[in-house]
Amino acid sequence: MKQVYEFASHSAGTNQGLLSQLVVPRPVAMVSTRDATGVGNLAPFSYYLPITGDPPLVGICFGLRESDRGTKGSYDNLMAAGDFVINVCSEIFAAHIEDLAKEYPADIDEASLHGFTLVDSHRVSSPSVAEAPAQLECIVHKTLSLGTARAPVVFVVGEVLCAVIDDSVLESPDLDHPLIDLHALAPIGRSGARSFIRAIPDAIYHQERIPYGPPSFKGQPFATESHVAV
Ligand SMILES: Cc1cc2nc3c(=O)[nH]c(=O)nc-3n(C[C@H](O)[C@H](O)[C@H](O)COP(=O)(O)O)c2cc1C
Repeated sequence: MKQVYEFASHSAGTNQGLLSQLVVPRPVAMVSTRDATGVGNLAPFSYYLPITGDPPLVGICFGLRESDRGTKGSYDNLMAAGDFVINVCSEIFAAHIEDLAKEYPADIDEASLHGFTLVDSHRVSSPSVAEAPAQLECIVHKTLSLGTARAPVVFVVGEVLCAVIDDSVLESPDLDHPLIDLHALAPIGRSGARSFIRAIPDAIYHQERIPYGPPSFKGQPFATESHVAV
């Protein structure tokens, strides 16, 4: 038997909680920014996705602070600077993710508080975390206000100007054909409720890529005459 959950019959929080448990695992963007006075900021965001390769776009959804319903420090900083950095959330952040999500006062640099080093980036004014194995340096491309007055969010689309990748996570050093070593990258994913997911070797499996189109399903187990391209 299957149960049908109607979103219209539940609260915004319960709805978001269910989405967070069914849209899994999600990547975590460790976003680093700086405010106008130079104080660094580092916080995790998992409502995050790649959008397109041309131009290279990624998106992150920013809600409001729980404590005072003000906008988040990362969001304020990236809107003021016009740029931000996404540090790939690898194992080095695992023990700190929840702590980095606390609503620290604006004059606290969460990165150094947790033993991370903010360094200058290559193409943007926002800093990068030196210890992270890879970064996406982004400029703000577009913003889209969504949600309701009770639960407003801003979806920030970033254009990625460059990726900075440590040799230790590059399976091939040829950047014309970049291949990332997933085991070395050791990304952490977000699941629902209080769960996180590690890309440990036993959890990773491979499948050969098949051409996606135009369809020629000859030899495939689900082939039918009507699927065969003419
Ligand atoms: C794993 C994880 C994922 C999160 N994802 C988001 C998100 O996608 N959007 C959001 O607004 N807040 C998200 N948060 C909450 C922010 O990290 C939190 O509000 C943080 O205090 C923001 O810091 P800031 O005000 O310094 O930017 C997430 C928290 C955790 C632990």
